[in-house]
Amino acid sequence: VCTHTYTLIYEGKSKRVYVKNRDELILEFKDEVTARDGALRSFIRGKGIINARVSAYFFSVLNKKGIDTHFLDYDGARKMAVKKLRMLPLEVIVRNYAYGSQLKRIPLLKPLQELNPPIVEFHYKDDSLHDPLIIVDDIINSGIATHEELNFIIKTSLRINDILREVFSEAKLKLIDFKIEFGRDRDNKLILADEISGDTFRVLDDNGKHLDKEVFRRTGDPKLLIDAYIRLCEKLGIKVDDIDFHG
Ligand SMILES: Nc1ncnc2c1ncn2[C@@H]1O[C@H](COP(=O)(O)OP(=O)(O)OP(=O)(O)O)[C@@H](O)[C@H]1O
Ligand SMILES: [Mg+2]
Repeated sequence: VCTHTYTLIYEGKSKRVYVKNRDELILEFKDEVTARDGALRSFIRGKGIINARVSAYFFSVLNKKGIDTHFLDYDGARKMAVKKLRMLPLEVIVRNYAYGSQLKRIPLLKPLQELNPPIVEFHYKDDSLHDPLIIVDDIINSGIATHEELNFIIKTSLRINDILREVFSEAKLKLIDFKIEFGRDRDNKLILADEISGDTFRVLDDNGKHLDKEVFRRTGDPKLLIDAYIRLCEKLGIKVDDIDFHG
C-alpha cells in the first residue's frame, strides 16, 4: 500500500491515518514512541514495522476466532488497510493482574496481584484530561454508547482476553493487561479497531521481564525497547529478520 496517493486525515502519537476510499483507511505505524503523556519521546527505527506486524498477527488470529475486527490487509511493512469506523471516545482496558494506573488509583492492591475474574475498565479518550476513568452511567447518559452496546463490549473484550491469553501462554508469556478501542461501521455494528501491540498490551516473559512499552516508560531507552519488541516477535513466531533496524 503506497501512501502518497492517499490523503492524510490524522496524525497521532504512534500512527498516521490516510483515506483509502469511502469505506477504508490506511493506518501507518510510525517509528516513534512516546510515554508519560508525551513527556518522553523517541525515534526508534523498526518500531513501526514491528507494531504493524504484531497488530496484523493478532487481528488475524481474532478474525479467525470470530471476533469482528477492522483489519483488512497488511503490506508487510508499516501499513495496514482497515475498515473505516466511527470511533467511540473510549479506551477499554482488560486487566488480569493489577498494574499501572490501577495501582495508582487503588494503592491497596498489590502489584501483579491476580484479578480473577479479569476486570474490564473504561477510560474517556481525551488527552487534555489524561484519559480519565469513566463509569458506565456516564457513558450511557452522555450518549457514547447504550447499555446493550456496553454489555456487548464487555463480553467481546473478555472473549478477546481469553484468546490473547491463550496465544501468549503458548509463547510462554503472561498477559498482564491491554487497551483496545471499538468503532461503529455503516450498520452501527461495533468492531474492534486501532492496534494490538507492545504499545497497548503488557506481557512478562518467564523471567518476569517486560516485552512491552513498559521498558521505555521505565528507562526512556529506545534501544532497550526495540530489543524487547524483537524478543516479543521471536516468542510469538513473528519474523523480524527482514527488518532494517540500523538504517
Ligand atoms: N478503523 C478505524 N477507523 C477510524 N479511526 C480509527 C480506526 N482505528 C483506529 N482509529 C483511530 O486512529 C487514530 C490512530 O492514531 P494514534 O493511535 O497514533 O493516535 P493517538 O496519538 O494515540 O491519539 P488518540 O488519543 O486519538 O489515539 C486514533 O485516533 C484511533 O482512535
Ligand atoms: Mg492511539
